[in-house]
Amino acid sequence: MKLDVKKGDRVLVTCALPYVNNIPHIGNIVGSHLPGDIFTRFCRLYGLDAIYIGGSDEHGTPIVVAAEKIGVTPKKLSTKLYRVHKEIYNWLNIKYDNFSRTSRKIHTETTQHFFKKIFRNGFISEEEMLLPYCPKCERTLPDRYVEGTCPVCGSIARGDQCEKCSTLLNPSELREPYCIVCHSTPVFKKFKHLFLDLDKLSPKIKEWIKNNKIMKESVKNLALGWIKEGLKPRSITRDMKWGIPVPLKGYKKKVFYVWFDAPIGYISSTKEWAKKNSKDWRNYWKKGKKVKIIHFIGKDNIPFHTIWWGGMLLANGTYELPYNVAGLQFCNYEGQKISKSKGVGVFCENLSRSGVSSDTWRYYLTHIIPENKDTEWKWKEFQDRVNNELVANIGNLFYRLMSFINKNFKQGIKKPTKFEKKDEKILSLCERKKEKIFEKIWEINIRDALQEILSISSSINKYFQDSEPWKLIKENKKECEKKLYVCANACKDLSILLYPYLPETMKKIHKILSITPTWDEIGRKLKSVKFEKPEILFKKIDDNEIKKIKEKVEKSKTIEEYFGKRGRDGMITFDDFAKMDLRIGRIIEAEEIKGSDKLIKLTIELNENEKRTIVAGIKKYYSPKDLKNKQIVFIKNLEPRRIMGIESQGMLLAAFDKSKDKLSLIIPDKKVENGIKLS
Ligand code: MF3
Ligand code: ZN
Repeated sequence: MKLDVKKGDRVLVTCALPYVNNIPHIGNIVGSHLPGDIFTRFCRLYGLDAIYIGGSDEHGTPIVVAAEKIGVTPKKLSTKLYRVHKEIYNWLNIKYDNFSRTSRKIHTETTQHFFKKIFRNGFISEEEMLLPYCPKCERTLPDRYVEGTCPVCGSIARGDQCEKCSTLLNPSELREPYCIVCHSTPVFKKFKHLFLDLDKLSPKIKEWIKNNKIMKESVKNLALGWIKEGLKPRSITRDMKWGIPVPLKGYKKKVFYVWFDAPIGYISSTKEWAKKNSKDWRNYWKKGKKVKIIHFIGKDNIPFHTIWWGGMLLANGTYELPYNVAGLQFCNYEGQKISKSKGVGVFCENLSRSGVSSDTWRYYLTHIIPENKDTEWKWKEFQDRVNNELVANIGNLFYRLMSFINKNFKQGIKKPTKFEKKDEKILSLCERKKEKIFEKIWEINIRDALQEILSISSSINKYFQDSEPWKLIKENKKECEKKLYVCANACKDLSILLYPYLPETMKKIHKILSITPTWDEIGRKLKSVKFEKPEILFKKIDDNEIKKIKEKVEKSKTIEEYFGKRGRDGMITFDDFAKMDLRIGRIIEAEEIKGSDKLIKLTIELNENEKRTIVAGIKKYYSPKDLKNKQIVFIKNLEPRRIMGIESQGMLLAAFDKSKDKLSLIIPDKKVENGIKLS
């Protein structure tokens, strides 16, 4: 491949904006954040004008559902988790030039502006969609807010997909659908929505993808496959409150579909960065500005960054198209899919308390970047790679060399005047290989590039070993000095190539050597080298430590816990318990409900002035006249629910033995006053 970039060229690198409804796990890190970071660091080293842009994706149903589940606003949820995300990326030295939020004003403005241009260009149409509307909640229900019976397998399914049999569904296909908030039956109504005319854009999208020379074949083929099947217009509006308002007459109450505004977040985050740094954001986005835009994303985002985002950009017409869409595969965990709810995976919130340095994490994580195929986290491999490669090959080389020079040449070593061929070979190793290494990076073969660098490290190690400086020092001091100088200079170059992978440690080395890591520095010969007593760079990890680390990082707090809503391991907090208002009450009336063979309507008296209606499914076990005057226990502050047209304002407590089909109401042991609160 011939590189088509040169020093000074502008490069904009982005990482898929994560939804902030969860805590990142290693799959998220190796699937986009880390490769994007290493890539950008290399670009900068190479002398390109590169920036790394990111942020959080805060709109859409995933955020709303998560927020409702714990009873906070979407804004509150994302504000808290935005910080958690940011801290994790910072700790791992994933260096974003800007990490914005799609809930910021600049993003609303950018999105609306972007839309208006597409609209004026004639790529937006209006169509009708059949959508569920909840009469009680007075709103159309997003797919995930409707549940019902799956028409295929008969289990309870969500409006977009049945988790049991995986079938993709439309809400209108569910049998006995109900609103998950209030349990009423939705009605299906036709609604007008706006659509992006992907059908019209299809030839242009195809041309772009076909002619792209750098995109991996796997990504290209996926995209071309969808195009071949035929692209249909896709809706870009939703009936929700949380999101960006649609700036068009008749649509002001709707918001944009999250996948419409999210990728525009790349632009608004760049604007934010430009403002802070007195730069012109247009230089990194606008057509004709000679910028190369590279998106790092996971496999599941490929359709959205090729067809969808490509289509949006083409419809708008004023922006540069992506130069590369780096679509990565998945990373598994010890043979299983990573799953927070099942506790399978490494979760990043505790990495900083793991006792292992961030460079050590980065080192192994780099090895499992799923560039070309799915990869897998393995604890044994983590330990082996750290001990045999990071410590033995890299760390020890630097450490041994620095200690040896420090011990034997306190005044330092001057650059020798003459070198032999064998020495020159080692001295020029990095310089000879650097171009090839950058090419690998540019083609998103970040792991391969690291292998290349490791082999350089091995060569330097071998040269050191073969030179036997511990013998030479006694026999030929001059020769010993020369050999050590060669090693030190080669290590200096090596430390520059390793910098994008291990920034924290290599920065220390650069400080010791008083060098600035640049592309041209690689191959330059130092005037002299001198070292203080060095510190150990990386530590070996034994079996016992692995166990401890594992315990720490396999755990992850639930989102509820972040908001202090729920205790650990399925426990509830005392506050949770205290929220339940359990009372003693007396049944003063009981009557059968017509048309139901299960239900009885009860009137419960708390005191003279306070009565409650409760609908209970106990007809099979008690007759109305048996119930009258019984003192029972019930929960008073349960959300009211409509059952058979009657509002039920609480629930009785009963012991139900399913196997014997026996039900017994809970009744106080001694006589107590009605209305007494249980504690
Ligand atoms: N939030 C999406 C996800 O986590 C990714 C959005 S990428 C963007 O899958 F381009 F839309 F920002
Ligand atoms: Zn409802």
